[in-house]
Amino acid sequence: MLQRAAPNCGRQPKETMVAFDMESAFRSDLPAAAGEWKPPPDFGFVGGHNDADSIPFAGLAEAAVSALRREGQALATYNLGGSPLGYEPLRQFVADALGTRAAINCDLDEILITSGSLQALDLVNEALLSPGDTVIVEQATYGGMISRLTQRGVNVVGVALDDDGIDPDDLAAVLERLAAEGTTAKYLYTIPTVQNPTGSVLPIERRRRILELAREHEVPIFEDECYADLLWGADRPPALRALDEDNGQVIYCGSFSKSIAPALRVGYLVADPSVIRQLLALKTDAGTGALEQLTLAEFAPTHFDDHVERLTQTLQAKGEAMVDALRHEFGDSVEIVPPQGGIYVWVTFPEGVDTSALVEAAAKVGVEFNPGAGWSADAVDGSRRLRLCFGQPDHDTIRAGVAALAEVVRAETDIGV
Ligand SMILES: Cc1ncc(COP(=O)(O)O)c(C=O)c1O
Repeated sequence: MLQRAAPNCGRQPKETMVAFDMESAFRSDLPAAAGEWKPPPDFGFVGGHNDADSIPFAGLAEAAVSALRREGQALATYNLGGSPLGYEPLRQFVADALGTRAAINCDLDEILITSGSLQALDLVNEALLSPGDTVIVEQATYGGMISRLTQRGVNVVGVALDDDGIDPDDLAAVLERLAAEGTTAKYLYTIPTVQNPTGSVLPIERRRRILELAREHEVPIFEDECYADLLWGADRPPALRALDEDNGQVIYCGSFSKSIAPALRVGYLVADPSVIRQLLALKTDAGTGALEQLTLAEFAPTHFDDHVERLTQTLQAKGEAMVDALRHEFGDSVEIVPPQGGIYVWVTFPEGVDTSALVEAAAKVGVEFNPGAGWSADAVDGSRRLRLCFGQPDHDTIRAGVAALAEVVRAETDIGV
């Protein structure tokens, strides 16, 4: 079969026909191929992009220059000639910041720098999961994790959330039910501080109760604190990993994607040294990008706190603008719980609305959002919800985009907004 070559990005599509059918050599169980890249729409509320005006590029440039002048020759060696766990000054910064911000007390051999926290998710999944295993997740959770679990043939079980995060009574019920079926979940995946997508923060009493339940049922916890630095609505409670310090039942991950810049692709895992060494054995990329690590290690010790404080204020104002716009356009016909931090608003429509069915009409007026089904353990429950990211658009775009979305909802549903 003749194959048409993929178009060249940014140039005229190549009309060349290639003779060899490469696709017939592919494994039969691959996910669908990636779609063609499209420029962002007018009202792009999808993904986890950040505020462009807040990117500290001047400080990063200075940091990169000074780190390169000092240590540039180390680029001649993989891992800059140092530990494959990551550039030591960066691991030191992560250890210090986690101590101050999340009450995590960790040594450098408990930290593995990863290529974004997505790689952290992949490493943990690779180490722990086989097809047919069960993982407990928050009923609404990170779509990137749900798709990863599904692709591995893992059984995803949701636990109820309320405005304060996981409902411990429901977690107890889920664990009992699984035990009665003879199943021990491979882990509980949770985003306790600035939950994605709900923006909630799990109070300390619930953290303690969840740890108790996890210990009782011998279920590991995978704690994802990707957004925890971007918190404005509450004080940051100690991480589950901090509360479990001497027990070793929690694997923790974090990221510089949301606090500095997603395109840098730098995240980190924190776990006991033996676990970290096992995860390192699965990390086959010969090291996370050295330039990013050098730059962050130079920039962060003196600039991270001030930068994050300013960024958080900017995001809080955008978040409030989005909640105001939603209330203005939709009134009481949707449920919104204002986020306590981060970059998302999770919107719940009345029963009967299927937000996936709105995607096409919304795209026609330049609005993109994440339909709730992909962000929910129970896709049916999630189908009347959607996630909007306010990190990237400015205030005017937020207002105009939410108004355009409301027009679509008016035209496509009978909820009468
Ligand atoms: C909860 C959560 N974890 C992990 C990630 C991955 O982020 P990154 O790989 O950019 O660190 C995201 C991205 O949006 C996320 O929302």
